[in-house]
Amino acid sequence: MSAQDNLEAVQCYLANHESVTLDRSQSERGPTRRQFLSWAIGSIGAFIAAALGVPLLGYVASPALKAQDKPWTDVGATDQFKAGEPTRVYYLEEHKDGWIEASSLRSAWVVRQADSSFVAFNPKCTHLGCPYSWEADTRQFLCPCHTGIFDITGKVISGPPPRPLDRFQHKVEDGRLFVREEAPRVG
Ligand code: FES
Repeated sequence: MSAQDNLEAVQCYLANHESVTLDRSQSERGPTRRQFLSWAIGSIGAFIAAALGVPLLGYVASPALKAQDKPWTDVGATDQFKAGEPTRVYYLEEHKDGWIEASSLRSAWVVRQADSSFVAFNPKCTHLGCPYSWEADTRQFLCPCHTGIFDITGKVISGPPPRPLDRFQHKVEDGRLFVREEAPRVG
C-alpha cells in the first residue's frame, strides 16, 4: 500500500469517526430546530385560540345567564282590588330568553287584605302545577287536578300539595300594583 493509499484510509476513518461523534453530541444537546419550531407554532396557536375564545365564550354565555332576570309588571291600580276578594290578573310579560325576545301571557292571583296590604300568588298549584281557582262560596282556592285546597292566605287545607301557594314579589308605586315572578321552586 502506497503512502497515498494510507493517507486516504486515515482520512476516511477520521471522517467516519467525526460523524459518529457529531451524532451523539446532537442527541445530548436537546430539541432540534424542527422540534423547537413545532413547539413555538403550537404555543402561538394556543395563545390565539385563548385570546379569541374567552371573549367569544362570554358573548355566547351572557344572554343565557341573564335569562332568569324577571321584570316588574304593572297589573293595575290598587283601588280596583277589593279586600278579601281574590282577583286573577293577566298581563303580558316581556322577556329575553337567551337570544329570543318574546312576550307571554302570564297571570297571578292578587289578594288585597283588610289592612290594604297585598299578596300575589303564583297561579300554579304547588302539587303538580295545575291552575287553581277561587271558590267564592267556600272561600277557598280549589285545584281540580287532585282536589288540592288552599285557604285565602295560601295555606294548604287538604289534598296532596306539599306546601302553601308560592308567592310573587309585589310592590305599590303611585297607586299601582306591580308583581315580579320569582324563580320556580322545586319540591
Ligand atoms: S296539581 Fe293541584 S292538587 Fe295536584
